[in-house]
Amino acid sequence: MAFSFDTLVSDIRQAAKAPDAEAAIREVLTAAVADPAPLIAATPEDGEDEILYFEDETLSIWRCRFHPHEAIPAHEHKLKVLIAGYAGGETSALYRRGPGGLEHIETVTARAGDVITLDRDAIHTVTTEGGAPSLAIHVYLGPLTALQRDLFDPETGAAVAFSMESFEAMKRPV
Ligand SMILES: [Fe+2]
Repeated sequence: MAFSFDTLVSDIRQAAKAPDAEAAIREVLTAAVADPAPLIAATPEDGEDEILYFEDETLSIWRCRFHPHEAIPAHEHKLKVLIAGYAGGETSALYRRGPGGLEHIETVTARAGDVITLDRDAIHTVTTEGGAPSLAIHVYLGPLTALQRDLFDPETGAAVAFSMESFEAMKRPV
């Protein structure tokens, strides 16, 4: 059967009802990105970079494209997130809050075929690896748009309440 994002979303929603939702969702995502070509073929090259497919109290499902030479400002989700890469590489630099501002912990990259997990308290900036855009499915284990969460100003490090306007305004060239 031909791949469709609608089917993937309904498979993820079904997996989220399992006793171990995270493991079941990971299994669905791992199977989906094991063969990235149909996902790439189903992704329009133009149009929105970040598409919300589904959200309820337990789950938020997005498709995210990030562009080379652009740094996404540090932000938190306050939810565990599974990131399933299917093109390029989505690189997260992970931070924690420290007395002098954000402290870098480690850097992880979700490449095509990878499913990585960021913890509830993760704070990350996002860049891409190599010269091509990255594509990934992001599954948050809760209602992402309903939560109060912070963005961090790239110049001052100050925490500000997340809004799409501030998020766009804080993107920087790499
Ligand atoms: Fe994020």
